[in-house]
Amino acid sequence: MKFKSVKGTKDILPEDIFKWHFVEQKIRSIMHTFNYREIRTPVFEETALFSRGIGELTDIVGKEMYTFPDRSGTSLTLKPEMTAAVMRAYLQNNLGEQQPLTKVYYISPMFRQERPQAGRLRQFHQFGAESIGSSNPTSDAEIISLSNQIYKSFEIRNFKTSINSVGCEKCRPQYKEILKNHLMGFAQKLSEESQKRLEQNPLRILDSKNETDRELTKNAPLVKDHLCEECANHFSEVQQILNKLNVPYSIDGRIVRGLDYYTKTAYEIVSSDLGSQDALAGGGRYDLLVEQIGGKITPSVGFAAGIERLLMTLEKGNVFSGNDISPDVFIAAADDLGKIWAIETAMKLRNVGIPSEIDFLNRSLKAQMREADRQKARFVIVAGATEIEKQSFTIKNMQTGVQMDVPSSEILNHFQNETR
Ligand code: HAM
Repeated sequence: MKFKSVKGTKDILPEDIFKWHFVEQKIRSIMHTFNYREIRTPVFEETALFSRGIGELTDIVGKEMYTFPDRSGTSLTLKPEMTAAVMRAYLQNNLGEQQPLTKVYYISPMFRQERPQAGRLRQFHQFGAESIGSSNPTSDAEIISLSNQIYKSFEIRNFKTSINSVGCEKCRPQYKEILKNHLMGFAQKLSEESQKRLEQNPLRILDSKNETDRELTKNAPLVKDHLCEECANHFSEVQQILNKLNVPYSIDGRIVRGLDYYTKTAYEIVSSDLGSQDALAGGGRYDLLVEQIGGKITPSVGFAAGIERLLMTLEKGNVFSGNDISPDVFIAAADDLGKIWAIETAMKLRNVGIPSEIDFLNRSLKAQMREADRQKARFVIVAGATEIEKQSFTIKNMQTGVQMDVPSSEILNHFQNETR
């Protein structure tokens, strides 16, 4: 019986891993320049954390979570997103008591049982950041510019940031009623999905992908036009700071996000290089989430972004050509004595940090040279009884074809200088 990976999951193969290392390194380095520190949380949590945190009525909680009882009957869920998990860790470890503002980032796999398609997986990876403890619009602007900075640093051009304010517990209920009344006028014509949302979650109807829904709601009232004074001021300050920072954005009153915890700022970054799943990143402010999961009110803001989607846009730009890892030195053995010398010397080179490889498959010298070439080794040393006897080895530069003889006592030094 042959096994296959589960639908919607993907292997990340050795030939592609350098791409992941490349993006992860850059993400980490930018997160560090913004003074965010990494947090890692378990892959699963108690189910109630997500259902309470993300919202019972969301698609994620209603349809997409990988939920299972463990052997003791506790309901567990593979994390579909990080924000609720980070906030659980924040509370449990009293991070807020150690410092009034906690800035953390993550790079982690997530799990959602969605219908797989290009850019949509069931196990996917996110990077993201959460700034916990400040209600200041500067924090919203920092998060938005941090996510922008990351895409800019990858030299991605075709991305757009759209921002909105979804109000707070003071102004949103009134707006919900206004929106509901408006939608009631043509409720029967809305898609089945939107009709279901009408009572409990009418805001989500605004970002329905259904064409008829979009046409029908063209003139629907938007929450950004019904904000209380506090939310309106906050929204306007976020925009002022973004303008000062020269972060390009537009306002899109239809952004409501698929998670229920947002208050005030909500935003999305989309790329025209992606297909129908065009969201590179999304985030916003979630001042009430901590309270929802049992802590005291802690204003916070954050974002998360799909790594597979970032890679898709980078692959379009051919950013990766020729970046794969390869050994600096391949030691080809001409005979049995050469084989021993090869492994000993490879170890010595590796001990001083020079990536080295040898043949393990008893290949002919010619085949070993071909293998060194295939692996894009920069140098090849040929070792056999003759060279060992003479204590002198030929080193071939595979790029230039130039060969030189180096005494064995000089080999380590030679490569330390060459590969520095
Ligand atoms: P989200 O919009 O659900 O937000 O996900 C963020 C990003 O993850 C999306 O923009 C997309 O790039 C990627 N993504 C989501 N689902 C999939 C999937 N099935 N396959 C591939 N990529 C996917 C959140 O998760 C919030 N926790 C963001 C946040 C952080 N809000 C505040 N702090």
